[in-house]
Amino acid sequence: MPTTLLFELNDGISRITINRPDKLNALNATVISELGDAVTRIETDAAVRGVILTGAGSKAFVAGADISELAEQGPIEGKARSMAGQLVFRRLERSGKPVIAAVNGFALGGGCELAMACHIRVAAEHARFGQPEVKLGIGPGYGGTARLPRLVGRGRALELLLTGAMIDAAEAFRIGLVNRVVPADRLLAEAEALLGTILENGPLAIRACLEAVDAGLETSLDQALLLEANHFGLLSATEDMREGTRAFTEKRKAVFKGV
Ligand code: COA
Repeated sequence: MPTTLLFELNDGISRITINRPDKLNALNATVISELGDAVTRIETDAAVRGVILTGAGSKAFVAGADISELAEQGPIEGKARSMAGQLVFRRLERSGKPVIAAVNGFALGGGCELAMACHIRVAAEHARFGQPEVKLGIGPGYGGTARLPRLVGRGRALELLLTGAMIDAAEAFRIGLVNRVVPADRLLAEAEALLGTILENGPLAIRACLEAVDAGLETSLDQALLLEANHFGLLSATEDMREGTRAFTEKRKAVFKGV
């Protein structure tokens, strides 16, 4: 049984709650390890069709890596900590299932990085974002320098990374760091409704979109287009594609089976 996170599964939606509210859900080694176990379940359990990731309490999504652990580390442990977290976040990002971060408060350092490793971010109005690592004399270790410029562009990312400043949800929306901002009491419902809309679609097509964007952004336009064409061809061999196109012509809702 995990001690630092909650894993619930209802109607194909797994809700993972980082659960250290007294430490603003800071990511210590146990959280990273238990998050890794949760990702294994997401990858392997067919009953999990999509994921909502959030933090316990109303104050913080995740207020960063656990600073008390960072304070003790040397260079070898520091690199190992960074790579262990990066691996878990990358596996989440490449699990093939859509993952939405429901950002319920502070998303700082590793918290902002965890939100960025999710495919879509929905934020409560009081959420705050930032990469304050430089204020501690260290840099981001869980993908901040890699994902932030990809999401918001180089100039905006460098301003956040170099100042360590916190921005509010409205500003995060304005620069494209979050997809939606909603009232706090609607956060989980809005995230689940959005995920529900996604899960009405063909699961193999969803998986292909996730993979094509993930790999396609990191390669040439020609390679990205080839990957897309390969997916387009492969999906044309699926029952889901026959069902989806037939349902359209028969003016009914498609029933996808993921085959
Ligand atoms: N690591 C470890 N503990 C943390 C933490 C972190 N990243 N962020 C918060 N906490 C702990 C605090 O130490 C405090 O614990 P205590 O009650 O045992 O003293 C508790 O969570 C509550 O935090 P506190 O600082 O008292 O809340 P606040 O409302 O005054 O401030 C923040 C909230 C988010 C502004 C502040 O906690 C903060 O700056 N956190 C660190 C953010 C950061 O630098 N993250 C990047 C780490 S690489």
